[in-house]
Amino acid sequence: MRLLLLAPPGAGKGTQGVRMAERYGIAHLASGDMLREEVARGTRLGQEANAIMATGELVPDQLVIDMMLEKVLESERGWILDGFPRTLAQAEAAYAWGVRRGLTFNAVVSLRVPEEELLSRLLSRAHTEGRTDDDEATIRHRLEVFHKQTEPLEAYYDGRGVLVPVDAVGPVDEVTDRIVKALEAHLAASG
Ligand code: AP5
Ligand code: MG
Repeated sequence: MRLLLLAPPGAGKGTQGVRMAERYGIAHLASGDMLREEVARGTRLGQEANAIMATGELVPDQLVIDMMLEKVLESERGWILDGFPRTLAQAEAAYAWGVRRGLTFNAVVSLRVPEEELLSRLLSRAHTEGRTDDDEATIRHRLEVFHKQTEPLEAYYDGRGVLVPVDAVGPVDEVTDRIVKALEAHLAASG
């Protein structure tokens, strides 16, 4: 199974990604988590990404493409990608790469959450996780970056017939159930 979680900051990509990975026995590959690990380890990539991530801007496409596609190849049983692709350039690079290997997405789950709810979730998380990008101004900027650079991917994946929209407001377990139902209906319909 090859899935993508396409959603704005705070929509629950990490929360639901872990659950989907367990349910289907696939790898949860989160670009933001991987970049934060690189930062913590002080690698060259981490040093380059650190200041950019703190502003809420996106790290350059090629750095993320190289990092992610290497991990994808290691995960033979399939994967759920969280946070990548996030620009049209990344989506096109990932698609060209996947077509050559027969590894394109079975489904792209789009989590839908109103903006004010996203903001309040991330402001509460700021107290528990201490991410450098979870202050209000940076959260608002991450949301703008999402609208400008990532939201256009919804039309891109819809055009390829793989987009599965899911209402992601409500208790976490209920959202998981909605994702599973929508996903399985999509997979059954697309054979
Ligand atoms: P990334 O780490 O991907 O952050 P993000 O997209 O801003 O998303 P978050 O991780 O903040 O939210 P989430 O959707 O995972 O929600 P979560 O489950 O945590 O990216 C960070 C940065 O890295 C980027 O800004 C960029 O600089 C760089 N980067 C990453 N990928 C890149 C790429 N491809 N290209 C270029 N740069 C890249 O949930 C949020 C909170 O809500 C949690 O506290 C959770 O407990 C709570 N919650 C979850 N579900 C619910 C629910 N149903 N009800 C109530 N609360 C809930
Ligand atoms: Mg996350």
